[in-house]
This record gives sequence, structure tokens and C-alpha cells, in this order.
Amino acid sequence: MPIDIERARRETPAASHLLHFNNAGAALMPTPVLQAQLDHLRLEAEMGGYEAAAAVDNRVEAIYGSIAQLLNADHAEIALVENATVAWDMAFYSVGFAPGDRILTAEAEYASNYIAFLQVARRTGAVIEVVPSDAAGELDVEALERMIDDRVKLIAITHVPTNGGLVNPAAAIGRIARAHGSLFLLDACQSVGQMPIDVAAIGCDMLSATGRKYLRGPRGTGFLYVRRAVLDRLEPPFLDLQAATWVSPDRYEMRGDARRFENWERNVAAQLGLGAAVDYALGWGIAEISLRIEALADDLRRRLAAIPGVSVRDRGRRRCGIVTFTVEGKSARALVDALRWQRINCHTSGPSSTLLDARARRLPDLVRASVHYYNTEDEVARFAAAIAALA
Ligand SMILES: Cc1ncc(COP(=O)(O)O)c(C=O)c1O
Repeated sequence: MPIDIERARRETPAASHLLHFNNAGAALMPTPVLQAQLDHLRLEAEMGGYEAAAAVDNRVEAIYGSIAQLLNADHAEIALVENATVAWDMAFYSVGFAPGDRILTAEAEYASNYIAFLQVARRTGAVIEVVPSDAAGELDVEALERMIDDRVKLIAITHVPTNGGLVNPAAAIGRIARAHGSLFLLDACQSVGQMPIDVAAIGCDMLSATGRKYLRGPRGTGFLYVRRAVLDRLEPPFLDLQAATWVSPDRYEMRGDARRFENWERNVAAQLGLGAAVDYALGWGIAEISLRIEALADDLRRRLAAIPGVSVRDRGRRRCGIVTFTVEGKSARALVDALRWQRINCHTSGPSSTLLDARARRLPDLVRASVHYYNTEDEVARFAAAIAALA
């Protein structure tokens, strides 16, 4: 069923006075997400933090089930952490690399991930190799097929990069990873919540995501999926008393599920907000969300491309809700600031966040306008008109 936009906007209070195209930064939270957090904060203030947590234990437990449903996983394969970076790092630093092990990644890889590759390569002697992009800008699956061998310990790919509408062919990469027995870590930070994600169909072993972007959850929330079958091939980089139990003076036992990647202290209110966000997204239907986002983003690209001096920079066969562009003679920062005065939110994406891709394409700072299903066709037209007036 198509999304009821009026209801979606009623349940997004800021939508009445703000044009928010910064959903790839942090989307606007809908009221049930805000309410879940406020209720729990009040409970903590009234009865104490530990006591409040005990009172909502079953609701916290249900968050794992909701995320599992979102990803087509099992609840025992989900860990709740502070953000996508912690999720990704916990997975990546769990892989034991030896000299000569190969890490394959893509050109549009995210800075934090690549920095971690560099650190681990320096420490262990593993080597980083970048699979080239094809003519459309997506990871070249045939090149990956040619490059893979049994020294490839890990394929780590960003599904949707931070700097544009590109969607990397995750399922095709997954098939190759499976066929060769390489681990596959998918950074789904920008794709979870904006398009259907099925870990079984994709064939990834680990997947990291954040709460605040396309899921419309609170800041400071994230999660990691780890396929049960690979759990014992991974050694978490640190363990605490949530991840393991101290069973005798010289021994601990790790948890048998993905929560071995968690740590104990948590923002329960924020996690309840995350659970509410996942349930809210599932309530609309991710396929419906995705259809609407892609239609709005296509409309925005078309309108921007028609403005003299504007160049849309997105690549990929299929393009998602992140739209990046430049305006001749104008700095991205100045444009974003000028729009802010008009109660229009968007963001910049700088070369250092996707250095390889930015260098290959000689990209300057980009304006990043990222749409969500609660945005409207009228907002797309207003945004394009505001850019035309500034161009
Ligand atoms: C592709 C990608 N991966 C990872 C991250 C990091 O997410 P977080 O800030 O939740 O750690 C981002 C954030 O913008 C991102 O765009």
C-alpha cells in the first residue's frame, strides 16, 4: 500500500516548518521514536536507571527481534552498539589477519573503514586491494571475480557510499564471497531503512548499520549482524562482562551469540527509540519506503540537472535517496549555509570522507541533499528553486 504521506508528516512534527534533506546525516525522528525515549528517561528519573531497565527488559529484548525481522536474520545474530562505526570496527577487528592476507574493498569506501584497513595492514602485514569500479561507477563484479583467490580473507564493501546515490551490487559480491569462502563485511550504514536488506539473499557474513540515518532512530545507536555460522571464526577485539562471563580465576566463557560484540553499559532510552524506529519503518513497509525515496530522488536529480551551472555527481545504475551536486563558482559550504537561513537542511560531503573515489573523479566538496519518504514533491521543487536562485 502506498505510504500515507499526510500521516507520515503529521507524525514528523518538524516537517511543518523545516525542509529536511539531511536524512543521510540524521533523519527526523517520528513521534513514536521520540516518545519511546522520553517515556524511558522519565522512568529512569522516577525509579532509577537499573530499576527502569529491569522494568523494560522484555521491550529491550524485542529490539533484537525487530532488527532480525528487518534484515531477515535471527535475533541471536544481532548485537546492539553505539553507532555504525563501532559495529563495523567490532566485526573488522575480529578477523585475524596474517601477513599476505588480502582485504578487497571498493573505490567508494568510507574513510573510517579505510583508516582501519590501513592500521591493520600496518600491524599485521595484510594487504589492501581496491576492486575497480565499472563504467557506471559500481564495484566491477567481473574484476572482483578475477581478483579473488584463497588469500582473500575479507571483502569489505560500503553498500551505499556517503557521497552519492550509488548502490553497490551487494548480492553479486556475496555470491562471489561465498563461492570462495571469504568473509564478507557489508557497511549498510546508508542503506538500512531506505531499501530492503535481506542478509540471506545478500550473503554477507557481517553487516553494520546506524540508527539515526534512514531508520529515523536516535543518535548514538547502531547494530551489527553476524551470521551464526561465522561467529566462531571471529575473535572480538575486546570483551567485557556482557560479552563473556568470568567463570574461574584463569578463564572466561564468551557468549554463544552475537552479543559477544556488545558491551554492558548502554543508553536504554536510545535503544528503545531504535526499536521503535525499526518497528515504525516495518509498519510502512521497506519496499514502499524505497520506491518513494527513489522517485523523489530521481525528480530532484532531474530538476537540479536542468539548472545552468549545476552538475549532479551521482553514479550507479540504480540510484538511491542521496543526491550530490556542485554549483559552478559556488562553495558547497556557502550553499548549505545559505539554505539553512531558509529553513532548508542539507549537508556537505568532502573528499576526505571517500578519498579514493573523490580523487579518481576529482571531486570538490559536494552538496548532499538526501530525501526520505516523508519528504514531498513540493519540497523537491522548492529545494531546486532555492538552488536555482543561488546558482
Ligand atoms: C557509508 C557510511 N559508513 C559508516 C558511517 C559511520 O556511521 P556512524 O556515524 O553511525 O558511526 C557513515 C556515516 O556517515 C557512512 O556514511
